[in-house]
Amino acid sequence: MAKTQTRYVCQECGRSAHKWMGRCPDCDSWNSFVEEKRSEKKTRTPEDVAGGRSEDGEARPRPLSEIDMGPETRIESGLQEFDRVMGGGLMQGSVNLIAGDPGIGKSTLMTQLGRHLPERTILYVTGEESVRQVKARAERLDVDSDRLLLFAETNTEEIVAASREKEPDLLIVDSIQTVFRPDIESAPGSVSQVRESASALARWSKQNNVPAFLVGHVTKKGSIAGPRVLEHMVDTVLYFEGDRHHAYRILRARKNRFGSANEIGVFEMRDDGLREVANPSEIFLSERSYGVSGSTVICALEGTRPVLVEIQALVTPASYGTPQRTATGLEQSRLRMLLGVLEKREGLQLTDHDVFLNVAGGIRLDEPAVDLGAAVAVASSFRDIPADTTTALVGEVGLGGEVRSVTQIALRLKEVAKLGFERALVPEGSLDGLTPPEDLEVKGVRRLREALEAVL
Ligand code: TYD
Ligand code: MG
Repeated sequence: MAKTQTRYVCQECGRSAHKWMGRCPDCDSWNSFVEEKRSEKKTRTPEDVAGGRSEDGEARPRPLSEIDMGPETRIESGLQEFDRVMGGGLMQGSVNLIAGDPGIGKSTLMTQLGRHLPERTILYVTGEESVRQVKARAERLDVDSDRLLLFAETNTEEIVAASREKEPDLLIVDSIQTVFRPDIESAPGSVSQVRESASALARWSKQNNVPAFLVGHVTKKGSIAGPRVLEHMVDTVLYFEGDRHHAYRILRARKNRFGSANEIGVFEMRDDGLREVANPSEIFLSERSYGVSGSTVICALEGTRPVLVEIQALVTPASYGTPQRTATGLEQSRLRMLLGVLEKREGLQLTDHDVFLNVAGGIRLDEPAVDLGAAVAVASSFRDIPADTTTALVGEVGLGGEVRSVTQIALRLKEVAKLGFERALVPEGSLDGLTPPEDLEVKGVRRLREALEAVL
């Protein structure tokens, strides 16, 4: 029996309520509740369950040995940066969300899969662009596959029907915000529509053991438009990041049920599509400034991969008002903390200075191991003394000005040595039992001051 029920859903975080609220108690957004009518239709009756029947006929408890894995569990695309982020290829029956700012290259990446998987049938559902636009992109990307099927459709029922008919090896829905279910009354892009459409597509994908990619846009606040609920429903959440003014794009797994999260893939956006960047450190250091104050090189760990990155700082006397503190590629709060430590522990008079910090190359770092390099870069600019260019820095800085140990030091040092650095400053506490790479002088530091003395 179908009955219509009115409820209100926060368009920011997906919280639902029976009455309208001015402010969402979960995410504190104002005026974010929108009325949504939907017919509540149960998909399974208790009778079904009692009889052991389920939607896919597979929901009975069964021993491990009875579960058939099928002949192949992963599809390797051959696009290695992509496969690594996916945990070694596309898992059969997995539902993957790929999110990112408009224009970052999500559709490009998805279309490009056609070039790498010419022997697979790919159903590419386009809700935003016309099939001609997608074809034009495919031509530019040199995709010449008769098995890439383009379908301009936004009705989820039609998409599922087409999937049933065409039996693709891979389903791509670009984007999840444009599709809708006719049985739900709210507009496409609303929380209910996004959630319910995704759920219908996910069900098809799981039942047929076909991987699906749902493309999603990111809102100004940085969350996937509307529902964070979507993140819980899917198996992997991939973010495609990068600065639109830079050619580099980073594909990052935030959640991965089939592999390690936080793994990254690095690409360069070219005229003919995305090119894989096998050695990101070389790229991030390619435009490095030498002999200029305020520049250091750090080694961050992105998933299982160490990446060397240049940190740039610029400290200038503030001309008026409150001094500016701007960090690009690093948390603002992290920068403020480091400035506090530099003032209090090292006596740097930064209060009347503007401080700009930039992670070169458009990559975003959120690992405390970058602290030491960032703090030294700020001090280097403040004192206008270039930091030693042959030294790389790794370490977390504590509030007392102490340098704290970081994980995976051996892996990081290997990358530092590989890129031709002569010396690395690392936390004293990370040195235990470490065999440093040949040709690399590894110096342990206990305090930020020791690092400043060593490189400035
Ligand atoms: P697109 O994949 O459409 O972004 P999204 O789907 O994330 O919104 O790509 C956006 C940009 O990429 C667009 O400005 C053009 C550029 N681009 C290239 O530089 N090279 C290419 O080969 C392609 C297809 C796009
Ligand atoms: Mg697009």
